[in-house]
Amino acid sequence: MKIAPSILSADFANLERDVVLVEKAGADYIHIDVMDGQFVPNITLGPNIVAALRPVTKLPLDVHLMIVEPERYIEDFAKAGADFIVIHAESTPHLHRGVQMIKDLGVKAGVVINPGTPVSAIEHVLSMVDMVLLMTVNPGFGGQSFIPEVTDKIAQVAAIREAKGYHYEIEVDGGVTDQTIKACADAGADVFVAGSFVYAAENPAERIQALRDAVN
Ligand code: DX5
Ligand code: ZN
Repeated sequence: MKIAPSILSADFANLERDVVLVEKAGADYIHIDVMDGQFVPNITLGPNIVAALRPVTKLPLDVHLMIVEPERYIEDFAKAGADFIVIHAESTPHLHRGVQMIKDLGVKAGVVINPGTPVSAIEHVLSMVDMVLLMTVNPGFGGQSFIPEVTDKIAQVAAIREAKGYHYEIEVDGGVTDQTIKACADAGADVFVAGSFVYAAENPAERIQALRDAVN
């Protein structure tokens, strides 16, 4: 299992400190939430922040684009140093082209669907991707409650991976805590994004360990 703390809940005035903190605590990826105020009702950060964080950590940067027509900015995020670029099926009429663009830039490609979107929306790109992200909240904000119905979709994409011999990682994002992580792991998820559970705590390192303990 891999833990990907989301810096959405970090202290934006101390981003370097908060990234280094979770790296030392054994985090596997740094999850970076990019929001444009249009695809989701919140605005966060852009490629300049990804570029600023690139030299402060060795961990892969997992960039989750919640923006309309993400293909307009894929190159910018690749140049900024993203290791994964993950795009929403609902955000573009050209999902296949977007995935192809990410791969052509030498970056690992991911696709993501909202809780209300069926797996069929990404079915025809599953052979190409390195990551499938399933939203377990409606995207836009940290600190929301986990939507348990999404575990069925985790099992679906895990079954497709098994049946077809694909190699993508299955990531879940939203409301992941020590109470909800086990159901996701049991359904087949490998990578667990956690924002508020890690960063809104006194001791983020303990929280990362608590997530691991809840699965094992
Ligand atoms: C939500 C973001 C998440 C968010 C998760 O739109 O994609 O990555 O940071 O936050 P928590 O873990 O607090 O639900
Ligand atoms: Zn996210």
